[in-house]
Amino acid sequence: MNTSEPFIGRRKTELDTPALLIDLDKMEANIAAMANYFSTVNAELRPHLKTHKTPIIAHKQIAAGAIGVTCAKLGEAEAVIHAGIRDVLIANQIVGAQKIARLINLAKHSEIMVAVDNSENVRAISEAATAKDATVRMLVEVNIGMDRCGVEPGKPALELAELIRQSPNLIFEGLMGYEGHTVAKPKRSERDTAARQAMQRLVDTKDSLEKHGVAVAIMSGGGTGTFDITGSIPEMTEIQAGSYVLMDSTYRNVEGIGENFGCALSVLATVVSRPHPNRMIVDTGLKVLAKEFGIPQPVGLTGVEMSGLSEEHGKIVVSDENVSLKPGDKLEILPTHCCTTVNLHDRYYGIRNGIVESVWEISARGKAQ
Ligand SMILES: Cc1ncc(COP(=O)(O)O)c(C=O)c1O
Repeated sequence: MNTSEPFIGRRKTELDTPALLIDLDKMEANIAAMANYFSTVNAELRPHLKTHKTPIIAHKQIAAGAIGVTCAKLGEAEAVIHAGIRDVLIANQIVGAQKIARLINLAKHSEIMVAVDNSENVRAISEAATAKDATVRMLVEVNIGMDRCGVEPGKPALELAELIRQSPNLIFEGLMGYEGHTVAKPKRSERDTAARQAMQRLVDTKDSLEKHGVAVAIMSGGGTGTFDITGSIPEMTEIQAGSYVLMDSTYRNVEGIGENFGCALSVLATVVSRPHPNRMIVDTGLKVLAKEFGIPQPVGLTGVEMSGLSEEHGKIVVSDENVSLKPGDKLEILPTHCCTTVNLHDRYYGIRNGIVESVWEISARGKAQ
């Protein structure tokens, strides 16, 4: 990126703010740790792009052994397929003529798979694919307890799978079930029980389909919080973990996850005002830091606590008056939710040993369609 090249080789503290930083050593260690786990089990890793939204990171995950990527949106799938990645799952429903036309265009140039949970959608995609002589691979999404998308386990899933098998230009590949209601349970034992209960619904549905002669090649699900729970279930073939690559303070507090993956993401902030010894204002507000999982906090500082965010300001309460930060000084903030924070930024500054090593455009940022 030409506009950003002048920053390469500079110290991270020379960057203007707000700036989104990745600690490259930590991110690479996270990729290696996850790849290492998936070398020991039957399931493979299909990391979710919604976390980092950047093809170069997806390429690094694939180079370490991931089989492809998971996307939430067509716009994300377009970004990675245009960047040369062919094996892409859209783990979401693609509904409406305009979006289906884009899906078919992608199917002409990749091995894209899509989740479906209703017969109208299956018929619409089949018709559009037939008209363009394309083939679309499908997973039936099953509601395994999150109560978001998905047909109910058992017979409804069987009926939808049968419909896909009978529909021209579609391939039924298998089942998807996302146990999103379990992934962030902080206690390992509670998470384990809840995730296994949820995944059993998917496994039972697979058994039921196979009893009716419907082969289920792919079983997809899982998130960062369940990578080694759902990932260890022999019937699962792929796991969609996303956050592990960058991490945040929410997942850091999830037992078994914070110990295995380091927080690689931070937002560099500048103190813009110290109007009172006990109050400090930084230039990182809601437009650069998500807060739906809680207010993000400064990294590595004691006696300071971010108490609130407005659009462009972060208010920090200073309880230790020896904290000498003054206007112009910089500090790093650790996001509470990596995925929604990344989506607020245009680029990452990749940092190694305190130096800017790379600048990466977040090309799927804002691709909500
Ligand atoms: C369908 C789906 N799969 C997987 C994930 C896993 O994400 P994470 O690893 O960030 O928990 C998510 C998270 O929202 C999701 O919606």
